[in-house]
Amino acid sequence: MTVATTQSDDIPIGELVIMTIAMPRDTNRYGDMFGGWLVSQMDLGGAILAHQCSHSRMTTVAIDKMVFIRPVYVGDVVSCYASIVKRGNTSVGINVQVWVERMEDHFKLKVTEGLFTYVAIDKQGKPTPIKWKT
Ligand SMILES: CC(C)(COP(=O)(O)OP(=O)(O)OC[C@H]1O[C@@H](n2cnc3c(N)ncnc32)[C@H](O)[C@@H]1OP(=O)(O)O)[C@@H](O)C(=O)NCCC(=O)NCCS
Repeated sequence: MTVATTQSDDIPIGELVIMTIAMPRDTNRYGDMFGGWLVSQMDLGGAILAHQCSHSRMTTVAIDKMVFIRPVYVGDVVSCYASIVKRGNTSVGINVQVWVERMEDHFKLKVTEGLFTYVAIDKQGKPTPIKWKT
C-alpha cells in the first residue's frame, strides 16, 4: 500500500513490523482506544525486530519515553515501525513509532512513539549475549 502524502515532512522511521485496524473491542466505555492496546501492538512489533536481529528468545525489560501524541480512533489503520537505536551486549533498544491512516484522509499521522528494550535470555531466563551480525 502506498501513501500519497504525509501531513508534515515527517515520515515513519524504521521497518514496518505490524499493520492492523483499531477495532471497537479495544475501546473503553467512552469509545476511545485503550493506550494499553497500542502499547501491546508496539511491544509485539519491537519484539519482531528484536528477534530478527538476535535469533534468540527475547524478553521486554523496559519501556521508556512513551509519548501519546494524538488519539487513535476505531477504524484507523495502525502501522508500527521499529528501528534499532542501541546494540548492547545482551540487550537491544528499539524505537517503535505508531502511525495511523484514517478512512477520510490520505496521509499518515504519527500518534505514538516509545523506546522498547529487549534482553536475550537463555532457557533459564538469564541474560545471554546477542550474536550481532555486522
Ligand atoms: C530481563 C531480565 C532477564 C534481566 O535480568 P537482569 O539480571 O536484570 O539483567 P542484567 O542486569 O544483567 O541486564 C541485562 C541487560 O538488560 C539491560 N537492562 C536491564 N534493566 C534495564 C532497564 N531498566 N532499562 C534498559 N535496559 C536495561 C542491561 O543494561 C543489560 O544490557 P546489556 O547486556 O546490553 O548491557 C530480568 O529482569 C527479567 O526476567 N525481567 C522480566 C522480563 C519480563 O517478564 N518481561 C515481560 C513482562 S510481561
